[in-house]
Amino acid sequence: MSPRPYRIAVIAGDGIGTEVVPEGLRVLDRLAERSVGNLAFEFESFPWGCQHYLETGRMMAEDGLERLAGFDAIYFGAVGWPGVPDHVSLWGLRLAICQGFDQYACIRPVRLLPGITSPLRHATEETMDWVVVRENSEGEYAGVGGRNLAGRDGNREVAIQSALFTAEGCERIMRYAFELASTRTRRKVTSVTKSNAQQYGMTLWDETFARVAADYPDVDTDQGLVDAMAARFVSHPESLDVVVASNLFGDILSDLGSALAGSLGIAASANIDPRRRHPSMFEPVHGSAPDIAGKGIANPIAAIWTVALMLEHLGLAAEAAAVMAAIRATTAAGVLTPDLGGSASTRDVGDAVLSHLP
Ligand code: NAI
Ligand code: MG
Repeated sequence: MSPRPYRIAVIAGDGIGTEVVPEGLRVLDRLAERSVGNLAFEFESFPWGCQHYLETGRMMAEDGLERLAGFDAIYFGAVGWPGVPDHVSLWGLRLAICQGFDQYACIRPVRLLPGITSPLRHATEETMDWVVVRENSEGEYAGVGGRNLAGRDGNREVAIQSALFTAEGCERIMRYAFELASTRTRRKVTSVTKSNAQQYGMTLWDETFARVAADYPDVDTDQGLVDAMAARFVSHPESLDVVVASNLFGDILSDLGSALAGSLGIAASANIDPRRRHPSMFEPVHGSAPDIAGKGIANPIAAIWTVALMLEHLGLAAEAAAVMAAIRATTAAGVLTPDLGGSASTRDVGDAVLSHLP
């Protein structure tokens, strides 16, 4: 008897999202094919994104969350396109799903892959291997605030954007970071804030960090302010293992990290509901890249690495490891898209990854 298929909701979205997601799906199809009936995936695609917005006035269907709720996972490309304001597209789809499903842990691994040159002269595969654990449900992206007084004369409109920090929100993301660090060789968590200037929310963060750390005596801890931390990513990448940060800081540091590992085109991410009440969502870190969309040269590695994170979450550790090994074999062989200095197309890289799957 065949096993129950994993049901995956696919939202390719905009721009290069529609070019890289098919490469990730080919990887899943190949794994299923090679499993001789032991593994199956069922995909359902949703046409949500900026085109959908221009046609319907909504980024996703009104009952979008209900329709996604029954899936085992969501595979997401990217959202955003000129003509639709970025805050409309981001809040209407990606943030609506992350916050609606309380996917509070955003996991972003950064690793230097063989065959890729880091802009850091001394970087090696050993010194550049960290995971950014980004708080994904509150902080600076809580959406608290408003704009008003536009009706007054002249330039007197006001806008307030508040960050929301709760002790519970801080504690649960920190516990996730410590549990993750416990499974890694270096067993270290670095906390990032700006609590010298942000004296309310981020001191609550710092105090919570100290309290949670006491429960994990086997894990080293360390903390820093975000400005100094940006410098440390460049000057001492070997000092980092698991980095836990607020929504905004985690977002910024993970782009910095992926550029240091070669390109935004290789950075994968997972938006996890660790309590598994809702499906988790897996997406590359990058956006829709309108500057290269339609040219067939987007790097699909981020989207394929993202598939590995999804497999891991589904309990398919051996398959996840096989995908990572195929990615490493591909970059080691020099099959690279232009963002990494190569001349391969999106499809060439996808083909190479497939050829290295067992
Ligand atoms: P971006 O990540 O789309 O692009 C930044 C730069 O990196 C561009 O030069 C692009 O060509 C390059 N790049 C990104 N991914 C690449 C890949 N796979 N292969 C090769 N090169 C790659 O960020 P940008 O330009 O700031 O935003 C473009 C749009 O994407 C905006 O509408 C923005 O709101 C949206 N966006 C959406 C995100 C999401 O869906 N989660 C995340 C970030 C941005
Ligand atoms: Mg980002």
